[in-house]
Amino acid sequence: MKEIRRDDRYATREKYASLRGIREAARRKLSDVEWNYLHCGTGDEVTAQENVAAFDRYLFDAPLFTGVSNPDTRTTVLGYELTFPAFTAPFGGGETLFHPDGMLAVGRAAHAAGIRQMVPVAAGHSLEEVRAASPAAVIFQMTFCGEEAQVLDMIHRAKDAGYEYICVTFSPIRQWRERMMEDRFSIPGQGTPSNFGPGKSDIRMLEELLDFTQPRWTWEQAARVMAASPLPCIVKGVGSRKDAYNALKAGAAGLYVSNYGGRTVDRVPAAIDTLAEVREEAGPDVPIIFDSGIRRGSDIVTAIALGANAVALGRIAALGLAADGEEGVKRVLDLLRDEFWSTMGHLGCSTISDLTPAIFRRRGDQRPN
Ligand SMILES: Cc1cc2nc3c(=O)[nH]c(=O)nc-3n(C[C@H](O)[C@H](O)[C@H](O)COP(=O)(O)O)c2cc1C
Repeated sequence: MKEIRRDDRYATREKYASLRGIREAARRKLSDVEWNYLHCGTGDEVTAQENVAAFDRYLFDAPLFTGVSNPDTRTTVLGYELTFPAFTAPFGGGETLFHPDGMLAVGRAAHAAGIRQMVPVAAGHSLEEVRAASPAAVIFQMTFCGEEAQVLDMIHRAKDAGYEYICVTFSPIRQWRERMMEDRFSIPGQGTPSNFGPGKSDIRMLEELLDFTQPRWTWEQAARVMAASPLPCIVKGVGSRKDAYNALKAGAAGLYVSNYGGRTVDRVPAAIDTLAEVREEAGPDVPIIFDSGIRRGSDIVTAIALGANAVALGRIAALGLAADGEEGVKRVLDLLRDEFWSTMGHLGCSTISDLTPAIFRRRGDQRPN
């Protein structure tokens, strides 16, 4: 075989040459049922597909002779210095199906890549275990349901373990996921360590708390708990100007624009199409995290230019976990960062602050589309 030239960036010695290679490796490792669980949306999966397709409608302007040779991808978000503007998203419930190390592997990879991790309450490892595995584990995702005192107890526990922010989620009712119904697949309980105490897996416990006979939380309740919380709260699931207004009024320290990758309710708009109005409502200083549809580095460019301070990586990180545990997630993060860097350079952006709506191609005097 011909010797690979070391200076040839395309002739990489890495095990996975590209994100496509990671995806193919993940597909080989997972059963059909697990693959469907990773990818499924709700209903006809219109929102899940639109989340990704919408990125192709934001076209860049790459003017000649304005490129930058070594753009700086670093940024500071929520006080964290990140090597590029990303967190790993809280993906739980069945993440140990993808790899037994689950969130431990994700946290270690996030640390190695110089970013931070959001850790889901429903995970195969307790919040203390995940935190102990990696200093990147700084944000704890918590569903606001059940007794307020219990939720506050869990927040105190997360603080004691070393978490610094709470990612607040809200889930009114069971989601309609037809792929899982067709597979007759329920997420299995993930073993003994449970954030809700011994004897019950987190996912079963959450299902009980989300029993349809229980009343759902209101903004007033959320505001009360956020005010009493010893950790600042970032509200996830923001998808409109109204959500942004309500979350900030309720005391959110940051907004997290997301439709959970189209996994909660179908036929809501692509998340990326709601980002600009949320930024407009929030003003320039409120930290905004974005997810739902990030599949490559150029998607991160689009999200930052439309007003996000950082993105969160859901399915794309889960594919890395399925392909090769910590190493797979690390490779996903490296590839995303490098493509983000290359795209910034071609668009003439030296630093993150150069990523503004001006990078988009305009037709006549129309707004970017
Ligand atoms: C397998 C899987 C499990 C998830 N579990 C959770 C969870 O426990 N809590 C949560 O807030 N979001 C959860 N999410 C949603 C992600 O945090 C994120 O919002 C979503 O994956 C973003 O969409 P994308 O994957 O298309 O980029 C999950 C997503 C996936 C794919």
